Amino acid sequence: MINILNRKEFLRLLGIIASGTLSNPQQVLASIVKQSELSKSAFGNDFLWGVSTAAYQIEGASQEDGKSRSIWDTFSQKHRHIKDGSTGDIACDFYHNYASDIDLLKSLNMNVFRFSTAWSRVLPQGTGSVNQKGIDFYHRVIDKCLENNIHPWISLYHWDLPQVLQDKGGWMNREVIDWFSEYAHLISKSYGDKVKDWIVLNEPTAFTVVGYGVGVHAPGLRGVNHLLPTIHHAAMCQAEGGRIIRSNVSNANIGTTFSCSHVMPLRSLEKDHIAVERWDALLNRLFIEPSLGLGYPISSLPFLRNIDKHIKEDDMEKLVFDFDFIGIQNYTREVVKNIGIIPYMHGLEIHPAKRGAKDFSDMGWEFYPESLYETLKRFSNYKGVKKLYVTENGCALQDQVVDNRVEDTQRINYFKSYLAQMLRAKNEGIDVRGYLCWSLLDNFEWREGYRPRYGLVYVDFKTQERIIKDSGYWFRDFLK
Ligand code: NOJ
Repeated sequence: MINILNRKEFLRLLGIIASGTLSNPQQVLASIVKQSELSKSAFGNDFLWGVSTAAYQIEGASQEDGKSRSIWDTFSQKHRHIKDGSTGDIACDFYHNYASDIDLLKSLNMNVFRFSTAWSRVLPQGTGSVNQKGIDFYHRVIDKCLENNIHPWISLYHWDLPQVLQDKGGWMNREVIDWFSEYAHLISKSYGDKVKDWIVLNEPTAFTVVGYGVGVHAPGLRGVNHLLPTIHHAAMCQAEGGRIIRSNVSNANIGTTFSCSHVMPLRSLEKDHIAVERWDALLNRLFIEPSLGLGYPISSLPFLRNIDKHIKEDDMEKLVFDFDFIGIQNYTREVVKNIGIIPYMHGLEIHPAKRGAKDFSDMGWEFYPESLYETLKRFSNYKGVKKLYVTENGCALQDQVVDNRVEDTQRINYFKSYLAQMLRAKNEGIDVRGYLCWSLLDNFEWREGYRPRYGLVYVDFKTQERIIKDSGYWFRDFLK
C-alpha cells in the first residue's frame, strides 16, 4: 500500500504517522525460506482457487442503467488525478462482458469469483430508493457463476462510496454507519440465498489512509483530522457489516480483508526497529485489533491518540465481531529505516530494499514470497482469528502481445514462489483455506490507470479483446 506513494506523498504520510513518542520497540527476525513441492493436491481437495476483482476496476458502465457517480468517478474524471489521465468509465466493460469473462475464469479451472457490488449502482442516492437494474445485474453475475460451479464471493465495499454520500462528509460523517448498514442489509438480503461467502471491507487501511490521510486516492482528502474519524467509522462498519450479514444469511462464511505485509528493519539499529513497530501497526494491526477486542494500537501509533474524540459510549464493544475468516492481501514486504528528518518526530522511511533483490513488479514492488508466509503466520497467531484465505496476491508487469500470445514467465515464477510459501504455511498447520489471485483481467489500477497489468487475461482496452496469458494457462494446467 505504502509503495504506491511518491516521495512527497510519503513524507506527508510520515507527518501523520511519525508524530508522538513510542515505547517497546519490537524485533523482527528475517524469514528462512523452505522450498516446497508444488501441486494442486498438496493443498488438499477442499482448497479454493480463484480470482479477486473490484467493481470500479472492471465494470465500466459508470453512468448506465441508473448508476450514480462514486467518489472514484469524481476523483478520476474531475481532478485528473490518474497518472495516464484515464477513468474507470469503461474499464473492462465487465458490465456487458460478465458472461464471457466468467466463462474465461471457468476455462482456467478456478472455482471462486470474488467481486464487489457497487453501492452507487444499487442505491444511487446512497440510501433510500433501490435501483432494480443494479440489483438485477449482480443476480446475473451470481447466476452465471453458479451455473458454472463457481462460488461467487461478494465484497461489500471496495472503495467506491457514492459521491452523494461523500457530499455529506462520507466516511468522516458518523452517519456513514447507518448508510453502510442500510446498504449491507440490502445486499445481504438480496443475494444471501445464493451467496454464502462474504467480505465486509476491502483493505480499510488503504482506503482510509490513502484516500483521507494522504489524499492520492478518492476522495483526495488529507490530514489527521480527516483520517481519524474515517478510521473509526470504517472500523465500526467492519463489525456492523459482519453482524448484518450474519443476521440475513444462513450458513454465511463472513470475513474481511487487510492489505498486510511483513515489515523488516533496514539496519539492525534500535531506531529502525521503532520504524518497524510503527509501520507494522499501521499496515497489519490497525483494523484487526479493534475487531478482536484489543482496541486500536495507539501505543505503537501515537497519531491515533485523538481518535478518542470520535469514540462514543459502547463503541469499543461494537467494534468487535467474530469473523469466520480473515482475508490476507499480500504482494511484497516493507523494509523500513528511521530517517529522523522531521523536527520533534521520529522520521521513518520505507526502502524498496533493492540490494540483493532480483525482481520487481511494474508497481516497483519487490518479489518477496516469504512475506506471504510471514504474514499468514503473523495473523494466525492472533487469538480469535480462525480461518485465513489469501484474498489477493499477484504481480503487475508490462505485458506484450506477440503473435496473439502473452509470455509472462516472470509472473508464473512469482506465483510459483508465493504458492510455495503459502504451502509452507499450510504444512506448518496454519489454517489457510484458499487462494484468490489478483486478478482475472488487466484492469483500472486506481491512480496508476491502465499501465500496470495484473490479469491472468490480457485486455486490449481499445477493442475489449481478451487473451489468456501464459500465467493463465499455467493456472489452468496446475488446477486441472
Ligand atoms: C489491492 C486492492 O484491493 C486492489 O484494488 C488493487 O488493484 C490491488 N491491491 C493491486 O494494487
